[in-house]
Amino acid sequence: MDLAELAGRCEEVRKEWARASAAAHDPGAVEALRVRFLGRKGLVTVLFDHLRALPPADRAEAGKLLNALKGEIAAALEGRLAAVAQAAAEARLQAERYDLTLPGTWRPLGRLHPLTQVRREIEEIFLRMGFDIATGPEVETDYYNFEALAIGPDHPARDDWDSFYLADGVLLRTHTSPVQIRVMKSQKPPVRILCPGRCYRRDNPDATHSPVFHQIELLWVEKGLTMAHLKWILEEFVRAFFGPGYEMRISADFFPFTEPSAQVHIRKPPGRWLEIMGAGMVDPAVLTEVGYDPEEVTGFAFGLGVERMAMLRWGIEDIRLFYGNDVRFLSQF
Ligand code: PHE
Repeated sequence: MDLAELAGRCEEVRKEWARASAAAHDPGAVEALRVRFLGRKGLVTVLFDHLRALPPADRAEAGKLLNALKGEIAAALEGRLAAVAQAAAEARLQAERYDLTLPGTWRPLGRLHPLTQVRREIEEIFLRMGFDIATGPEVETDYYNFEALAIGPDHPARDDWDSFYLADGVLLRTHTSPVQIRVMKSQKPPVRILCPGRCYRRDNPDATHSPVFHQIELLWVEKGLTMAHLKWILEEFVRAFFGPGYEMRISADFFPFTEPSAQVHIRKPPGRWLEIMGAGMVDPAVLTEVGYDPEEVTGFAFGLGVERMAMLRWGIEDIRLFYGNDVRFLSQF
């Protein structure tokens, strides 16, 4: 083979490259091209074998031709590989594309029950003041629900709490006051607690009665507490929960476990007075019952209805709405 013939072969390989490389569209095919042209027995590689057979004078020229061809194809291979990788990446992106303009699937958002909202809000008001949350059983004994609260077996006040009895001496608690007793019996004063929970009374359901309802009880027992502290707490509560502009009125009431006992009304003038809770100074007999010395410490308590607070806040007229699970009602809060 002489120089001219070798140059002709180079041309042929170049043409073959142009044809073959145009058909390589994936990384595997490009790798096959590399083997076919530049591999150990590749079309370009084998041309170098002819160098030795050429007259020495032509070898330099022939070497240039071959090296140029080899360089050209190597560079083209690189370019081809990059182009193929780029195309593959684009195809992948295209396949994974999301159409963000498509309308989504609408799912109604859940929300907290109005009673839960009110309970949590009241808890937060008193947690900020340093009260702890305490809870107790809903199935209570007569002792904690009544007797320890100075409501003896024949006390006429029992009529105020129509009770669900489960067995002799065991009932569904009619108020959250038994939690006071449990906490005071288990710890020394001072006591600052808030007791939220479900209560049960044998009432026929109507707009203002439900056999199951929720109370929040507050109890503060410490040295030197007076009715003035109770009044201050109540004023703070009314301002925090109902907002500014409310008047508060404390008037006499009766509970066997508080002395004196009071009921608390609020109104936004010129509106009418609304009762919000019962309250009072813990009766010395109750303090003695739990092992406290009424000469040492005094205390006060109140009990409010969560349903009542929610009804006042939102102007809800029927307590049964809270338990109907009607989303048209619930979704308003
Ligand atoms: N436990 C009383 C009730 O259910 C409310 C109350 C609590 C009154 C604490 C005074 C002090 O009616």
